[in-house]
Amino acid sequence: MFRVLILGMAIICAALSAAAHAPGPARKLTPPWQDASPWPDRIVVTFAGDPARTLALNWRTDDTVDAAVAEIVKATPDARFDLDARRVNARSERLELASVKDIEGIFDIGQNAGLPPVRFHSVLFDGLEPDTVYAYRVGATNGEWSEWFQVRTAPISGPVTFLYLGDAQNGILSHWSRTVRAAYAMAPDANFIIHAGDLVDEASRDFEWAQWFKAVGFIHGMVPAIPVAGNHEYMNVSRDPTKQRRLLSILWRPQFNLPVEASLPDTLRETVYKVAYSEDLDVFVLDTQNGELAAQAAWLDRALAESKARWRVVTFHHPIFSSGKGRDSPERRAALLPILKKYDVDLVLQGHDHTYARGDLAAQAPAQSPERRASRVGDAIGPVFVNSVSGPKQYEWSPGGWERYAGDGVQLRRAAENTQFFQVIRILGGMLLYEAWTADGALYDSFGLVKDETGQRRSAPGATVTMPERRFKDTMPYRSPSGSD
Ligand SMILES: [Fe+2]
Repeated sequence: MFRVLILGMAIICAALSAAAHAPGPARKLTPPWQDASPWPDRIVVTFAGDPARTLALNWRTDDTVDAAVAEIVKATPDARFDLDARRVNARSERLELASVKDIEGIFDIGQNAGLPPVRFHSVLFDGLEPDTVYAYRVGATNGEWSEWFQVRTAPISGPVTFLYLGDAQNGILSHWSRTVRAAYAMAPDANFIIHAGDLVDEASRDFEWAQWFKAVGFIHGMVPAIPVAGNHEYMNVSRDPTKQRRLLSILWRPQFNLPVEASLPDTLRETVYKVAYSEDLDVFVLDTQNGELAAQAAWLDRALAESKARWRVVTFHHPIFSSGKGRDSPERRAALLPILKKYDVDLVLQGHDHTYARGDLAAQAPAQSPERRASRVGDAIGPVFVNSVSGPKQYEWSPGGWERYAGDGVQLRRAAENTQFFQVIRILGGMLLYEAWTADGALYDSFGLVKDETGQRRSAPGATVTMPERRFKDTMPYRSPSGSD
């Protein structure tokens, strides 16, 4: 009888225990670092005015914060550097994540189903001094402040260091975070970071942007971002399955405070812009997914004609010279290459092909033979083109390399597959040093350029590179992360 009682109690206990572990209410689907709160997060410094005298920034809160503010003060060694901080009211924007109003009506964004609206806030600090470290914080008048961040305004002239990253896109937190963090660790003095498109895989999916901001952590609170829109920053909102109608990520404009080029159509607002960083460097950003190539080409032509900077970098997503199998883009090449050549730009930084490629055009100096040439130190050299990738998605190189572009006069210098990269580019007066590093911190590619007072550009020694070429056949087995191209 006693045994029966014990057995009965054991059965009841087991049943209660099972009940305690039975599925309860639906598990929360968002990680805590995705959820918005009254406290600021997703803080990112950008350029929206003169980089020497203004700083632009954005941050996010939940929908309860309608009186957001930011404070700024010149940084000093004093413990209470902040006592004289100036306060600026933010511009705030409520954003529905689960749907977007489009010309055809409301379009549901399934990946954000159930997410509450959030607010993005932005300020443009002005009246700043060049080449000066400022401390700023963002928050709300009822006390939910960020920490103080320090950021340096652009110099009028002098050395510039910047980082360039190809597509992050997939495994953003799991596999890309190491690349952007290694880049920052390699060049913590970087003046800004170019993200050459496809920052995420699904343009408006908040979970992926949450990963992107978690991966960069405090980095973009200190180092401004120059984001480039890629094809994955656009989503298809066509109701007709036979048609494509693409809309820029609903998060792009609320979360990045970028220059507005008044002469361009509204569809290119904050995706095509110029950062006149200093007397030494102008950066031109295009949106090669948008399709308004003629308008962009005309704008680039004008902007380059007006540029007086010593070095000129153009960045966009789709490569002029493709290095991905079956991914040539002749219409973009036809629209943009003549302008890049006409103004003899220095560097063209691209993404999209999930491979590494670096090559250059023949110099346009009349004395140089149009025949293929070796790149020797001291040779005149034309614009340099780079395709790179920082995330884990990797493609095969197109068979035949860049032979198919021989008619354009471009020569490939270095290639790779199955490798995550970041690039460090340093400008020191008339010298430019480029380095491509693997995500684990090994030097893979390097070259130098020098420019004399007449603007003549010549090849210069880069850093010494010893690593053999990396190809799928010579590296670890690869499996594609999730996501389309
Ligand atoms: Fe892409």
